[in-house]
Amino acid sequence: MPAPRPFSPGLEGVVAGETSLGYVDGENGRLLYRGYRIGDLVERGTYPSVANLLWTGDWDPTHRLATASIPAPVLAILRALPAETKPMDALRTAVSAWGATQDLPWPPTVEHARAITSFSPSALAAFVRLRAGLEPVEPDPSLDLVEGFLYQLKGERPDAATARALDAYFIVGAEHGFNASTFTARVVISTRSDIASALAGAIGTMKGPLHGGAPSEVVDQLSRVGSADHAEAWVREALANGERLMGFGHRVYRAYDPRAAALRKVAEGMPTRPDWLQLAIDVEDVALRVLAETHPDRPLKTNVEFYAAPVLMGVGLSPDLFPAAFSLSRHAGWTAHVLEQAANNRLIRPDVNYVGPAERDLPA
Ligand code: ACO
Repeated sequence: MPAPRPFSPGLEGVVAGETSLGYVDGENGRLLYRGYRIGDLVERGTYPSVANLLWTGDWDPTHRLATASIPAPVLAILRALPAETKPMDALRTAVSAWGATQDLPWPPTVEHARAITSFSPSALAAFVRLRAGLEPVEPDPSLDLVEGFLYQLKGERPDAATARALDAYFIVGAEHGFNASTFTARVVISTRSDIASALAGAIGTMKGPLHGGAPSEVVDQLSRVGSADHAEAWVREALANGERLMGFGHRVYRAYDPRAAALRKVAEGMPTRPDWLQLAIDVEDVALRVLAETHPDRPLKTNVEFYAAPVLMGVGLSPDLFPAAFSLSRHAGWTAHVLEQAANNRLIRPDVNYVGPAERDLPA
């Protein structure tokens, strides 16, 4: 047997492709989509315009995309799910069922990307209403995607500031390099499968707590802090007990996460600050100061999850919906990667070192 070749657990440090979609510069706290800074995209764009930028490379801030209606067989499946189904399971099931109702020939197209990105918010909103004993709300084509999602969730149009805050969250969640779910989507499409299968796989990958789970833990911690007066004592005690402060530190970013900065700015601009946001701002100041004291050699800064939590709570989503909301936002990136992979396709099929027994005879 040949000597095993070096391998990297978790593929850490392995370059597994090339992309012109997103650039994550952890050292300098920069995130670029097709070269544009995330902060500028949040300030000047909308989620549909950013999705279109990722799909086509064209920047058109007026680009619109409404939510789509749910095909009858998919709605029937959503109705059949038990009320206690996890939202990520419901979304994955809906996407898979949607694929069964569509003609999705190879290669995937921008139209396929638009169709699935506009379908999924309607499906999640319908599931949330059905589990509460309410009827789904039909899409309103006059509303842009995120506003339309909130409308279908609540049954009434959101105010502009609320829609804007969630839209900003969707923009910062849209793309982040070769993360596990994006890589999954690329592996699936590399077999010349279809976009619905690629996204069903991506949603299943994001369901794991190591990928999509952190913002609800931020909510837990903020509720344990309770009020700004207790922040300093709470933070010191938590660190002394070896706890990690949720929403701080990052594997890639050594500087302040640019997504957190962009979200904080939008959330601060809301005419009425949700209580969650004010508490987060107060706790952040204390946490950054104490973390700098306790870890002088390791920059531990705010990450995106810290501000995702108050924004998602502020627009009225319950913490069990956070991973599914994250998945909706990542549709733009997943589908853009699917298109990029298909445009220059090579079946993704790495090697593995065999470490089992040498060739031998079956026992007599
Ligand atoms: N609170 C307190 N201490 C921390 C934190 C934190 N949030 N993050 C890292 N540290 C400390 C560690 O205890 C360790 O200290 P030590 O050397 O004294 O033992 C040191 O910093 C290095 O920690 P690592 O785990 O090696 O750092 P890594 O880069 O691998 O971790 C991670 C990144 C997992 C995100 C970590 O910072 C963490 O657990 N943060 C809290 C959870 C969180 O916010 N997750 C969301 C990340 S953003 C995202 O996934 C989109």
